[in-house]
Amino acid sequence: MKSRRHRKTASPNGGGAAGDIGRVPAGTPAPKITASSGSFASTRADVAVCFALEGDKAPALRGVPAGSALIRTLSLLMRQERFRGKRKEVLLWHAAGRHPSARYAVVGLGARADLTLETIREGVGIATRRAVAVRARKAVFVLPPLTLPEGVEGLAEAATEGIALGSYRMSKYLTGEEQTPLSLKGAEILFGPDALKAAHRGVARGKIRALATNLVRDLVNEPALTLTPLRMAEVAREVAGQRGLEIKVLEKKELEKLGMGALLGVSAGSAQPPCLIHMIYRPTGVKGAIPKIALVGKGLTFDSGGLSIKTASSMETMKLDKAGASAVLGVMSALDRLKPAIEVHGIMGMTENMPSGSAIRPGDILRTMSGKTIEVLNTDAEGRLVLADALAYAQAQKVDRIIDLATLTGACMVALGPVVTGVFGNNQEMVEQFLTASSRAGEKMWQLPLYEEYSEQLRSDVADIKNTPTSRYGGAITAGLFLKSFVNGKTPWIHLDLAGPAYLESEQGYMRKGATGATVRTLLTYIEELAD
Ligand code: BES
Ligand code: MN
Ligand code: ZN
Repeated sequence: MKSRRHRKTASPNGGGAAGDIGRVPAGTPAPKITASSGSFASTRADVAVCFALEGDKAPALRGVPAGSALIRTLSLLMRQERFRGKRKEVLLWHAAGRHPSARYAVVGLGARADLTLETIREGVGIATRRAVAVRARKAVFVLPPLTLPEGVEGLAEAATEGIALGSYRMSKYLTGEEQTPLSLKGAEILFGPDALKAAHRGVARGKIRALATNLVRDLVNEPALTLTPLRMAEVAREVAGQRGLEIKVLEKKELEKLGMGALLGVSAGSAQPPCLIHMIYRPTGVKGAIPKIALVGKGLTFDSGGLSIKTASSMETMKLDKAGASAVLGVMSALDRLKPAIEVHGIMGMTENMPSGSAIRPGDILRTMSGKTIEVLNTDAEGRLVLADALAYAQAQKVDRIIDLATLTGACMVALGPVVTGVFGNNQEMVEQFLTASSRAGEKMWQLPLYEEYSEQLRSDVADIKNTPTSRYGGAITAGLFLKSFVNGKTPWIHLDLAGPAYLESEQGYMRKGATGATVRTLLTYIEELAD
């Protein structure tokens, strides 16, 4: 009896330590999202959502005559409730049977001059969260008549992303009343008949991008108890099977053969074996030479700090430390449907960082796959160790470009706060193209420099480099410089530090607390633009 109870505590899924993480790809079923040319005034929904810009006296309802009862009621409400149309402002009104839909929501979009696709994504996402909160089953959205450079397709894509990201919730471990499944079954976005064709395309793209993001949120939210390195490999195999991708999983023996002493060193203290996951997307039917890119993710299923152990409170969220690798898997899961004409290698260095009698110690020296040696002074600077080997592996694939993704430093959070990804690179043209992709995708990113002055902080007396800089200051940059020393100078390379945005401590607009899937949508945008 006793042992059975113990088993139950150890594995809430009842599937052993590498238990079932639930449905792949997405744990939370998203509502069915469609574009249609229905009329807002006659639609029957649980929540009917429309929008107003700052200073508007009435919401913009395409196809509804200005003097109609619905518009008069909504503008009276806006005036009486002192609705200003500021960004994120929501007016939710229960129509008590006087109009076809049960509730109407007016969502503020802010000033017209500041309007971007992210404003739409955010407005739709916030309204979706409200609709989920009132347990709506069906929501309908009418977008304001906007002419943005991205056109109707971009608008539909952003709105779809807002709905699918805004309705995400991780509830698989809740029991009893809390366990209620997502109520929202359908979401309809209304467009004029001429716009419908482009809208359908945008909805399809938005779904692909948002579901990839939500898959990453599921992976990152999953505790280290169940999402071990080898379980991640199983999920990757499932995704590869569904999506027609090639996959190789290198287990401990093969890592030893390749000489990945740094990745193996980090894993030495853990009871969970490490692995390196390599997925490949190859476009079909493309003639001639195509670019090859590698995405390299830090996959620490848990980061306790190792013997340089973290404090109890800074360990609380360290299941997030696999966000880089999870984002790589998310991107790979979407490529077969977006079909970019570019070869993409997804490489994930998976391990756990634990203290134990077999753990590496401060002062230990590790030999990497590249041959370079690293003096480990702080076992909590483990991400750069894993990436040193994963980057060597990526370069052995003879790719033309590399992007690594890692929740690498607390210092990057200090520098940029919780919502901004740090971008570093050895090729300014690539960095600029990437930053453009990030603003199209609505993800906040900012470049930080890799000034060589700080490299001397990584000089070791006994090995080629040390893993911990002499000074705390500029810690995100010295981490970037460490990685740069493992990338040959000829391959354009970007390093993303997503320590802040990968996981939110408090909700942020349409993103709930917890994992966000940060960088997935930017990477998909960048890959598509590279292919064009
Ligand atoms: N995974 C952490 C970085 C991190 C911190 C991510 C907070 C998300 C939130 C990383 O492995 C780490 O511990 N970095 C150290 C490096 C230091 C020892 C040089 C840090 O940032 O303190
Ligand atoms: Mn660490
Ligand atoms: Zn870490």
